[in-house]
Amino acid sequence: MIIEINDLVKRYGKLTALNHFNLQVKKGDILGLLGPNGCGKSTAIHCMLSLLTYDKGEVKLFGEHMSPTRYDLKKRIGIVPQEVAVFDELNVIDNIDYYCGLYITDKTTRKQYVSEVINLVGLEDFTTFTPKKLSGGLKRRLNIACGIVHKPELIFLDEPTVAVDPQSRNKILDSIKELNRQGATIVYTTHYMEEVEQLCNNIVIVEKGQVIAEGSKEQLKGLIKVNEKIVIEIPDFPSAIKEQLLQLTGIIDITYDNVFVTLNTEKSKTVFTQVLHILEKNQIAFGNFYTQQPTLNDVFLEITGRELRD
Ligand SMILES: Nc1ncnc2c1ncn2[C@@H]1O[C@H](COP(=O)(O)OP(=O)(O)OP(=O)(O)O)[C@@H](O)[C@H]1O
Ligand SMILES: [Mg+2]
Repeated sequence: MIIEINDLVKRYGKLTALNHFNLQVKKGDILGLLGPNGCGKSTAIHCMLSLLTYDKGEVKLFGEHMSPTRYDLKKRIGIVPQEVAVFDELNVIDNIDYYCGLYITDKTTRKQYVSEVINLVGLEDFTTFTPKKLSGGLKRRLNIACGIVHKPELIFLDEPTVAVDPQSRNKILDSIKELNRQGATIVYTTHYMEEVEQLCNNIVIVEKGQVIAEGSKEQLKGLIKVNEKIVIEIPDFPSAIKEQLLQLTGIIDITYDNVFVTLNTEKSKTVFTQVLHILEKNQIAFGNFYTQQPTLNDVFLEITGRELRD
């Protein structure tokens, strides 16, 4: 195991930010820590890295006990913090070179690593810019470059795509996949479920400082009752028909927003034709219809009773 966290408890005064938090990350994983604002993602990362003290529990990185003085372990780790942390007075290349120099002393290697990471995050055209001349997305890419330039084996990225344009977002996600292909283990926090679905082989859903579910996206979706949603455009949807549809086995619930009827189903294939049959038999006019696969938001909603994005 690259990361093993056992029973971590972290309190800020009366607030319990991590409440018996457990985590295991294997070599080569891209682990997604998914959860709403304030659920404890950043706190978990800071505790793992000994940047914060904690009240209880144990953190092992690379099989060894992590503590503030384990510089040998820290050297093998890259951190991309949630808040951009670069020097305003240094340009792009000097910022990256500074961070590289913290770990890499050989001049030729250092030069090569700096140039490689600039290509990886796509900052070739901006090397002489100071951070304040960069757009939000480019600044984020610089933040990433600074955190990973020394080619760490384990990389923590804390919400690296918040408020960035789609082009930078795609570039960032591609860079992370490439780092993983080159052998790095990744821990990625976000509250965007689409990103973890696209990027992560293992997903940990965090709520109120606890891990509430874990697995691949398929495994997580397998945990819940909802299988598929059937959405049908029905301008006039009588409640008697709703009652009749609810009688069908496999329908969990039905909602109507005055345009679309949404049916949460357990076994959609058999239900779909029956639903259309009932509508036709009762001469209910309907327009477009489609089915929707469950999302990680459905998983979160079913387990916690609230939306991932609040
Ligand atoms: N230094 C601090 N002092 C007191 N409370 C804190 C401190 N840092 C975080 N908290 C609280 O601890 C909880 C967890 O915060 P944390 O920043 O770890 O969440 P997060 O999941 O990273 O959220 P976000 O998605 O907004 O970054 C929150 O309720 C937050 O308000
Ligand atoms: Mg955070």
